[in-house]
Amino acid sequence: MAESMQGLRRTCRCAELGESHIGQTVTVMGWVQKQRNKGGIIFVDLRDRSGIIQLIYEEADCGTESFEKAARMRAEFVVAATGTVTERSGAVNPGLSTGTIEIRVKDTRILAEAETPPFAVEENSRTKEELRLRYRCLDLRRPDMQRRLILRSRITQYVREFMAGEGFLEIETPILCKSTPEGARDYLVPSRVKKGAFYALPQSPQLFKQLLMVSGYDRYFQVAKCFRDEDLRADRQPEFTQLDMELSFVDADDVMDVNERLIQYVCKKAIGLDVQLPLPRMRWIDAMNDYGSDKPDTRFGMKLKDVTDLVAGCAFPPFADAAEKKGCSVRAVVVKGQAGMARKKIDKQVEAARGSGAKGLPYLAYKEDGSVKCSFGKFMQEEELMALIDRTGAEKGDLIFFAADKNAIVWNVLGALRLRLGEELGLIDHDRFDFLWVVEFPLLEWSEEEERFVAMHHPFTMPMEEDWDQIDSDPGSVRAKAYDIVLNGVELGGGSVRIHQNDIQEKMFEVIGLEKEDAAEKFGFLLTAFKYGVPPHAGLAYGLDRLVMLLTKAESIRDVIAFPKNKDAADLMSGAPDFVDPVQLDELSLAVEGDKEE
Ligand code: AMO
Repeated sequence: MAESMQGLRRTCRCAELGESHIGQTVTVMGWVQKQRNKGGIIFVDLRDRSGIIQLIYEEADCGTESFEKAARMRAEFVVAATGTVTERSGAVNPGLSTGTIEIRVKDTRILAEAETPPFAVEENSRTKEELRLRYRCLDLRRPDMQRRLILRSRITQYVREFMAGEGFLEIETPILCKSTPEGARDYLVPSRVKKGAFYALPQSPQLFKQLLMVSGYDRYFQVAKCFRDEDLRADRQPEFTQLDMELSFVDADDVMDVNERLIQYVCKKAIGLDVQLPLPRMRWIDAMNDYGSDKPDTRFGMKLKDVTDLVAGCAFPPFADAAEKKGCSVRAVVVKGQAGMARKKIDKQVEAARGSGAKGLPYLAYKEDGSVKCSFGKFMQEEELMALIDRTGAEKGDLIFFAADKNAIVWNVLGALRLRLGEELGLIDHDRFDFLWVVEFPLLEWSEEEERFVAMHHPFTMPMEEDWDQIDSDPGSVRAKAYDIVLNGVELGGGSVRIHQNDIQEKMFEVIGLEKEDAAEKFGFLLTAFKYGVPPHAGLAYGLDRLVMLLTKAESIRDVIAFPKNKDAADLMSGAPDFVDPVQLDELSLAVEGDKEE
């Protein structure tokens, strides 16, 4: 039976105790990690968020009642114990911070009993994630989960400390918003009052923070919940948290400067990491050409090599075609010492490349004996093959993979291959933290689907002045004052200088095919506000979950979010999303078509 804790006060957490407390009487409360009954003596490991302490029950010390209670204790019972801190009588446990001490219990209470949990509450559980998510409150008791969430809390505090010190104001923005096109699909909330109308949950506070600049709050930040209905990945959640900021009377360098110092401050405080400033900057075009990615993982080499000019006019049709067409290229990646890669492994790479959009994955093995085995060898002269080897810097014993297609596909295929093989071949130093800025993004990208240019970041991103006169003749070549901060191949944050001049904004809308009336309909409130004195402004937003994920070396973003969604955007614990009472639908004048999914 559960007892009350009336008259009893916890004096400290379990693992806050150490040898300096020997001789003191303390009261601890927590969950039973394990109980071992050795007959005349019972050992109980008691756990709370600080760690574990060993309790010792001997009938002579604690009396029969407490001894009997200890005999009943099972994993996850909630227990209070009062006793004296002593040196360990048995073997010291070097695995515990409290391994040299124990508490000789005088009095104990069972505050709650527990059923046998569906999995053991322990470090590095091998339990399937689905079960962990279903019983999330038990999963959150596990020490590794607790460590990550505690660090998350600290990181948020360090961010607030730093931002306050730099004169930023923390201002909340609405969750029930107007739907504006921002890239991902919106989550919609029906209005009860205005029938047929919907709020959208914010994909980011973007427009509100720009409005705050118009209102004169010249340094804003927020730890903001954002919602995006998009396909999930290991570093994506439908509901995630941004550290969002906006500054007035600044340019890109000012934003990058304050953010570098923020990163340096947080990393030092959170994990003792010294981040050297300034952070490296890489132009977008160099990131794509060298790494095939706008979020390059610079912890290892294996850079892409352009061989387009070498294969122009060659007899291998995929190469010759790509070399001829505008916007296409032939590029290569050298895999050191893998000339002997088994056929099966190569086939796996070919398959993965197809998944990334490639039509094939030609390869060339430069054997140790100097001979060449090449999947397109019969189309090429020996000198041509040697020229490829020479250009890519391959040495005897190396394997070269090629991709020939539109640039976007070539970058995507080889960028992904580089990451896959880098991981598989153990080339990545997982103790490194490689931060960098990617800058000079294109302002626009061509959408094949919509057959028009769309804004790469968002339509309020400022173009680079030096490129602006090409906006009519060659819109794709105009670069933006946009910057992303990247850590170990993950996009940690992104931002830009915003357009604050009417004429540039109008031109931007025109180029992306947004009619004046449409722009007014979609962003009217922002454009109206801009008529009344808009300061030059710029900003940035981090994915806070991603930052915590990388600093804690968690494998998935779900491991740093207390109550995350699974890959189907469902909360397995509460069962959200769920069907609602027809009365609720009636109130909202909504009807659901078709059968309910079971
Ligand atoms: P952006 O869309 O690049 O920019 O988002 C900023 C950062 O938010 C994180 N992020 C996500 N994290 C987890 N799950 C998701 N689904 C998800 N989507 C994005 C990423 C990303 O770098 N308003 C602009 C910022 C600005 O211009 O100031 C914005 O939202 O780490």
